[in-house]
Amino acid sequence: MPTCHVLLITIVGLIGSVFLFRPSIRGRSSTHYSYFFIFGVISSNPKFSQTKNLISPPLSSEDKRAAAGDIAFSTLKIHQYLMAVSSCARAFPSFQCRSDPDFSGGVPRHDVPNAGVRFSGNANSLSHGSSVHSMSSLILRFPPNFVRQLSVKARRNCSNIGVAQVVAASWSNNHASPDFTSAAKAVDAAAAVAPLDITTGDEEVAVVEDPPRADRNVQIEDLRGVKYSSFLSCDGSIAIHAGERLGRGIVTDAITTPVVNTSAYFFKKTAELIDFKEKRRASFEYGRYGNPTTVVAEEKISALEGAESTLLMASGMCASTVMLLALVPAGGHIVTTTDCYRKTRIFIETILPKMGITATVIDPADTGALEAVLNQKKVTLFFTESPTNPFLRCVDIELVSKLCHEKGTLVCIDGTFATPLNQKALALGADLVVHSATKYLAGHNDVLGGCISGPDKLVSAVRNLHHILGGAINPNAAYLIIRGMKTLHLRVQQQNSTAQRIAEILEAHPKVRCVYYPGLPSHPEYHLAKRQMTGFGGVVSFEVDGDLLTTAKFVDALKIPYIAPSFGGCESIVDQPAIMSYWDLSQSERAKYGILDNLIRFSFGVEDFEDLKADILQALEAI
Ligand SMILES: Cc1ncc(COP(=O)(O)O)c(C=O)c1O
Repeated sequence: MPTCHVLLITIVGLIGSVFLFRPSIRGRSSTHYSYFFIFGVISSNPKFSQTKNLISPPLSSEDKRAAAGDIAFSTLKIHQYLMAVSSCARAFPSFQCRSDPDFSGGVPRHDVPNAGVRFSGNANSLSHGSSVHSMSSLILRFPPNFVRQLSVKARRNCSNIGVAQVVAASWSNNHASPDFTSAAKAVDAAAAVAPLDITTGDEEVAVVEDPPRADRNVQIEDLRGVKYSSFLSCDGSIAIHAGERLGRGIVTDAITTPVVNTSAYFFKKTAELIDFKEKRRASFEYGRYGNPTTVVAEEKISALEGAESTLLMASGMCASTVMLLALVPAGGHIVTTTDCYRKTRIFIETILPKMGITATVIDPADTGALEAVLNQKKVTLFFTESPTNPFLRCVDIELVSKLCHEKGTLVCIDGTFATPLNQKALALGADLVVHSATKYLAGHNDVLGGCISGPDKLVSAVRNLHHILGGAINPNAAYLIIRGMKTLHLRVQQQNSTAQRIAEILEAHPKVRCVYYPGLPSHPEYHLAKRQMTGFGGVVSFEVDGDLLTTAKFVDALKIPYIAPSFGGCESIVDQPAIMSYWDLSQSERAKYGILDNLIRFSFGVEDFEDLKADILQALEAI
């Protein structure tokens, strides 16, 4: 048969199927349109293409028999299907193409028998009543995120085309009988929408909550309102499950959180939009204000930090700069510490003064200096890393929080080096905790992100400015952070252990002058670190016995770590700060920050300890 005929039949078939399932037409003249539908089904069926080839001469007699068999089989099944459809239409008036994609309430469940049956084609099942339920329900249910993104009209047409495709597929996959019951349960689980906190701009929005229903999936229904802590006792389990199955506002039966790549969210009617604006309805609105994938990552971090709220942003720098801009008023004063990530220092020294914001810089251990500033000035915020970059100094979070709170000063800790597993800054008394999620949280050297966690009130203030400044994290990046966090406890355990053991080896090595690691008794805040941390992290800084070039020679002799600027990932990374981060300054200017030419910052990945030890020892031998 010529190709144009095939095309023509396909188009006619599809149009036929559209008419067949249009509610206004279906009741009256379904028989006529059935024939269009038959064409649609046959032309959509892969068997048709075989058949098409077979009926073009020359054909062997065996081929002809096969073709005839195929056509007869398809026709029989179409007939069975149409019979099933007409009885189904009577028994279940809801058997119609769905124009309302709102799975959370638009179509009452009792109207949708076996709603949510996962499709597994089975021609035989079409002749049974229960299978008809299954077929009708699978036709009625398209993936919600797919359906909700289509216009009403497009959805209706898609549904109809989908019917033909589904039927055709079922006939071409004429295999074993599927377990419709368990599949139905699985998809129903997906249809349950868990509560979700959303805010947009400066508007606090209500909670997205699906009305409770008797036929909801047991698994999710049973877990509603259950606190993670009632059955997840450790951070490792919380890092895996928090925010996802137990709280995710995404309709899906996937184990993993879907990446919702959308820049905006639609409203079905203006009335819905007004309800949203007037806070009677919860919804996402625009990608810069929130994203369901990102919410899952935020929930995970909140659970680990014991925070009411977390805001995930495009980078660690984004988190700390927006936090400072949001919380410190123009003309305000902050206190920070000497040792810190250079770009944070640059922001405090050069950008904040444009808003008239000044800073007092103190040694991380000098609480006396902190007290003095607090007594002299109205200090809005004390902001420090703990441990610090690159000397891993520690700040007594409990003590500084007490001192600051007495004066109404907020405390924000950049806990990037600690991770939420080794240190709980909020539990120690801090108001806010910031992380560069780029490092341990994501943990795979493959994504940038930053977050700030704390009480809703403070995080909302940061969020409102963030919505204006616009450093939104991409949902794909949020997904990588979610995925990374599932192994956070395993990685951090390994990194803590390797770093501790190698720090001890380095300290005893004749070619190493000094080691900076809070897990060593020689560290100035060793006792404090032991009190406020449960592990000391995967970064060890040390000075080798040599000058800039000797140190570079050591770096170049290492075979395992990458020479790169980051830390906290699976791959070990080595960095000579004098070159990597301070090369634009003279040697004496670098020395003001304690950055000597022979300083090395070594971030241990999750490689085998013995391999790393052997590599470091051989590199030290090389100098
Ligand atoms: C302690 C600390 N905080 C914040 C940042 C900035 O994070 P990001 O690179 O994700 O912007 C860094 C970067 O290295 C850091 O070391």
